[in-house]
Amino acid sequence: MQSLKIRTGATRPTPSVCLGDDLALTRPLLSKEETVELLSSCGSLGPDPSSRHFAKRTKSIAYVMCIEGQWFQLRADFFSQPEQYNDFSGGYKRFYRELPGDFLGCKATQKILTVFRKTYQLPEKELILVQVQTSHLNHENIDQCLTGQGIHSDGADRAMLVCLQRDNVTHAENAIYGDLQGKRPVLNPFILSEGHGLLWQDNQAFHHVAPAQLADPQRSGSRTVLIAHYPAFHYLVGKPNPNNTLGTNEVSAHRRLRLQP
Ligand SMILES: [Fe+2]
Repeated sequence: MQSLKIRTGATRPTPSVCLGDDLALTRPLLSKEETVELLSSCGSLGPDPSSRHFAKRTKSIAYVMCIEGQWFQLRADFFSQPEQYNDFSGGYKRFYRELPGDFLGCKATQKILTVFRKTYQLPEKELILVQVQTSHLNHENIDQCLTGQGIHSDGADRAMLVCLQRDNVTHAENAIYGDLQGKRPVLNPFILSEGHGLLWQDNQAFHHVAPAQLADPQRSGSRTVLIAHYPAFHYLVGKPNPNNTLGTNEVSAHRRLRLQP
């Protein structure tokens, strides 16, 4: 399996972001058959109420842990991303449907989680938060943001994004930056194809996804991704990750979902 390591090139270093390391890499991870198998194992994704404020999204989640090569799931149907990393939808408990047991029993799921662990030498017996989410796009919401956030860090140490499915959706380019303003690209915007993964050091670099477009504007479209974050204990308790001090772009007070009734 070929991989592409992304180095940072000649961009200007800053004290807060280490640009000398391999901050991100992309690689093919799953065959078409494996993406279909993985998607099927997720069952029907649940609602994502926060996406009322951006492009409609459905989402299910799982907290998972590897013990001596076997994967286990911790039952919890929420996460709380500290507002230090997400001024828009952080700072409160967000509840989601849990991924079913079939998800972790799926060989394709185990395959990409193992790649994530091995790439970053993640220890056993530590929680990883996995989210599977679909953006549902049509001619009315196609200009909307896919995340409600601009350039941001998720507040983890390491992260992985795998594209599982694109139907009638183009663009939605992913990018990695060395700063919150996007002036120092680490990985220029690119389209993550079905079955391909982007892995990055979430406590060293910021990421972004651009708006999508419909290949055929007369039809609706969808794009499904799997996102994994390590560590995950802090998403259970809503506390900042001491290993991630990257911060966030502020949003205006009326956009902060934690302040809305
Ligand atoms: Fe993110």
